[in-house]
Amino acid sequence: MTHEPASPPCYAAGVDGAYMGHAGRAEIVAALDELLEAERAGARVALASAKQGPAPDYGTLMGDVRADEARWCAMLSRHLRRLEAAPSRRTGAFYGKAMAIAEPWERLAFLNRGQAWVVRKLETLTPRVRDERLHADLKAMLESHRENIARAAALLEREGGR
Ligand SMILES: [Fe+2]
Repeated sequence: MTHEPASPPCYAAGVDGAYMGHAGRAEIVAALDELLEAERAGARVALASAKQGPAPDYGTLMGDVRADEARWCAMLSRHLRRLEAAPSRRTGAFYGKAMAIAEPWERLAFLNRGQAWVVRKLETLTPRVRDERLHADLKAMLESHRENIARAAALLEREGGR
């Protein structure tokens, strides 16, 4: 047994949170913009795909994914404005890549891989966000993505010939 203090000394808060592993404002703005562009791409892919579903559940899933992606676009834009940054108006390159896949089940599988990329980004970013409101919103976005990924994977398994 040592008699050293159980916890490290406390440090005064930094100006923008860029200390002790927390992401600073510039890094957060860049990450939120990247996620916003990805979610906008996902929303557009899901909207375009909902109309031409090979099975009723396909259109329903795409419609729900579209609604979720739009919700996260609004959330990310809100936080960017709160950070006094102009939200990106671009759509991620993912949109063009996904729309180049004509086969609906293959496109859904590709969309799911894009959603998994978002999950990995959020898993890395969220623990480094000190702001409580942003942290909670990113965590909700992460959970929602995990649920949609599982739903799509189950549908692909059941009806997508995988
Ligand atoms: Fe997404």
